[in-house]
Amino acid sequence: MPRSTTVTYRVFSTPPEVAKAAAGLFASSVVEAAQARGIARIAISGGTTPKMMFELLADPAQPFFTQIPWDKLDLYWVDERCVGPEDADSNYRMTREALLSKVPLPAERVHRIEGELEPEEAAARYEAAIRNGFLLEGAETPTFDLILLGMGDDGHTASLFPHTEALDNMMNIAVANHVPQKETSWRVTLTWPVINQGRHVAFLIEGEAKTQVLHEVFQGKYQPEAYPAQIIRPASGKLTLLLDEAAAAKLPETVNGIGTLELN
Ligand code: 6PG
Repeated sequence: MPRSTTVTYRVFSTPPEVAKAAAGLFASSVVEAAQARGIARIAISGGTTPKMMFELLADPAQPFFTQIPWDKLDLYWVDERCVGPEDADSNYRMTREALLSKVPLPAERVHRIEGELEPEEAAARYEAAIRNGFLLEGAETPTFDLILLGMGDDGHTASLFPHTEALDNMMNIAVANHVPQKETSWRVTLTWPVINQGRHVAFLIEGEAKTQVLHEVFQGKYQPEAYPAQIIRPASGKLTLLLDEAAAAKLPETVNGIGTLELN
């Protein structure tokens, strides 16, 4: 059985408010990690939800752009579709257009998953890049300062999809995963033990399409093969959900927009 975890969830009226809270978490995580360890290492997800947050981080009119010490940030991805960086399905492309092309993050600090390669090779090269970036030795695994996740309406997170092989991989840092449910059926993803080693893990989840799955993942029976997001229980104990009202509609009422759930 999994370790017990306290989940803190913050509910906002609209997606722009979720994005602003997420941008604030991103910026504060970089500042804190840079002050504590001289470097911040953050892993971001793709999909559609994070785009608005990336745009806020890149907007000079917002406080985040000047708050963030860009030269102290190493940016990684939680997962990538096995497509080239120019493909419309590429998480990297979305991030480059919304964020990277507008901020002074040095290219050598952007650790893209090379989706244009064969999946196994892309996963191996990404794992090597992480080992190198974190100066890992032997079987050490990386501790990201912040890992930002999304959740699909099927309960997947990262590219850990229901009933797929990557759910059983506890050996690698990154792995190729075949996802027959998806048109882009090959993905590269961080494995769940790496995600659970994150100092702070936060889900960004929005929209009524996620209402039911959010309820099932965080209040339903523990069945991670069916709901992989249930596996995410950081050893640090810091698991945050940033939600809009639509997604949070089936969670217990909050006090001033903040609620907690005990996951047994
Ligand atoms: C991906 C993401 C994936 C995403 C969820 C939610 O590569 O698609 O990493 O895990 O976070 O599918 O996607 P939306 O934000 O589009 O709902």
